[in-house]
Amino acid sequence: VIRIEEDLRGMHVVVIDDEAVNRRLMERILQEAGFGKITLIADSTRLEQLEEIDPDVICLDLHMPGKDGFTVLEEIRGSLPSLRQVPVLVFTADVSIPSRQKALELGANDFLNKPGEAIEIVLRVRNFLRTRKLYKELESYSLDLENKVQRRTLELYEATEDCLWRLARASEYRDDDTGEHTIRVGVVSSRIARHLGLGAEEVDMIRRAAPLHDIGKIGIPDSILLKPGKLTPEEYAVMRSHVKIGASLLAGSSSKLMLMAEKIALTHHERWDGTGYGLGLSGDEIPLPGRIVAVADVYDALIHDRPYKQAWPQEKAVAEIRSQAGKHFDPQVVEAFLKVVDSSESEIAV
Ligand SMILES: [Fe+2]
Repeated sequence: VIRIEEDLRGMHVVVIDDEAVNRRLMERILQEAGFGKITLIADSTRLEQLEEIDPDVICLDLHMPGKDGFTVLEEIRGSLPSLRQVPVLVFTADVSIPSRQKALELGANDFLNKPGEAIEIVLRVRNFLRTRKLYKELESYSLDLENKVQRRTLELYEATEDCLWRLARASEYRDDDTGEHTIRVGVVSSRIARHLGLGAEEVDMIRRAAPLHDIGKIGIPDSILLKPGKLTPEEYAVMRSHVKIGASLLAGSSSKLMLMAEKIALTHHERWDGTGYGLGLSGDEIPLPGRIVAVADVYDALIHDRPYKQAWPQEKAVAEIRSQAGKHFDPQVVEAFLKVVDSSESEIAV
């Protein structure tokens, strides 16, 4: 009598055979070899439970009333997806060569002689279980790996989010120590982007990159940045340099996100009619993220208190943005912005 290895004993062997004698014989052979999980199925028309049973190998009779072995094979390989990879060994008593070929064609893996030598049956079943076990290990390994990658990706995403938020806060620290303006500009920009029909990835990227639009203010002296009164032309020129300082701080990255942030920093004060600053671009020459952030930035500045002005009521701010379509702002971006306002998505809790 041959005994199978310990690690295979818990694997599930299913025998489908209408004849009780054969089922009992198989059960005895398998039990003596040390198999611990054996399920015998007499009625081949009732295979609904087969997927739940989760077999590791199936020993299948061909001649059965109701539903023969070929039909069962077809079902296992066709309509029962979780069983597609389970090895099927077909009992052959008086099976003709065409029948053998048909069984192989339908996905049988091997044959068991009937009445068979116990040793040969056990060895064949064992060999298929060995492969089955490797397959399962590989499957769980790759699933594990996939989960790990997913978890790490999320961690990385969150770490980046965290860094971006802190960087944005640093950039606004002297004139808005809560950093709320930067977050709001990010959120409104992403909503405008969504209404413009941009893809989900790009929308999310704008939300994350836009808060860095004023990072160049780090390089502007307090005497100018925090000056309560009107700036002189010279001071204003220094103030305007924040777009180039910002772009140079963000330049040279290989990350798509940073590249977008760089573009936004450089172009968020451009104007549709070409009278803005940065590179002095106009119309479509201005990168779309820059055109979007321009609207979100101005709108947010209008509806909040600033050292030099009080907050405007929302309707007045919206009217101002609308009136600047085609002048300061890209008309299509303004249109998308108005949809954001209409759907009251412009209200942001931070
Ligand atoms: Fe700015």
